[in-house]
Amino acid sequence: MKGVQKIGLFDSGLGGLTVLSALNKVLPGVPKVYYGDTLHLPYGDKSDRAIQGYSIKIVQFLKDQGCDLIVIACNSASASAGKELESRFPELTFINVIDPVVDYLAQLGINRVGLLGTRATVRSEAYSLKLAQKNSEVALYALATPLLVPLIEDGFLGTGIDSDVLAHYLNDSTLDGIQALVPGCTHYPLLKKTATAILKEVLWIDAPNIVAEEVAKHWNSNEIAEDTFYLSDRTDNFLTMAKKTFQIDAYWELVRL
Ligand code: DGL
Repeated sequence: MKGVQKIGLFDSGLGGLTVLSALNKVLPGVPKVYYGDTLHLPYGDKSDRAIQGYSIKIVQFLKDQGCDLIVIACNSASASAGKELESRFPELTFINVIDPVVDYLAQLGINRVGLLGTRATVRSEAYSLKLAQKNSEVALYALATPLLVPLIEDGFLGTGIDSDVLAHYLNDSTLDGIQALVPGCTHYPLLKKTATAILKEVLWIDAPNIVAEEVAKHWNSNEIAEDTFYLSDRTDNFLTMAKKTFQIDAYWELVRL
């Protein structure tokens, strides 16, 4: 295993902070750099090519900051750009947010699993393809839920509008008979309470913690430092949401790539 000194994470916006929060519980105090590409949010509605372009620039930036382990804290980027990033930056260790969850699902002993994701993630079929590679018996039922990211980023969590929209999606016949549900977008764990209140019998897969456990396996240094935060567009709304939802009151430096 390579010696990891600093962890870089990125997402289109707030979503990757669900992974950062989970990571802070298992690896408190270890140096992490977070980049939120708010200028290009949402990723989920973009083409693979566009998402790859943004991701390559961000990974180069995180590498320049000294990060040697990159957590692709975004399902859309993991699905659309994961392979491209690994081949362009062989010197870095990558953890995407899909593989650890697929490994978890493959050993869960549940057959019918639902997935909520962005259009890019659902279009990629990344979860089903990776499950098939593992000869898993799990049948995956994926639904694109593009309204959820704007709702979260615009501060509609807990307003009732979020639960109406979520209930509409969860009623879709695609999800009939599922036993477990994967929040296949790093923003969606913020909807856990609302979703589990609607789908009472369904197991909610705790994706950020599963990913954080995987990252922790790679950490092997005594390095301690504050987290650092960057944004490609610095809006008051984002700063308010980061503080309100994640209690992150740090300075977010504007870096346009
Ligand atoms: N949070 C990201 C994901 O996991 C991106 C959402 C978006 O920007 O559309 O897919």
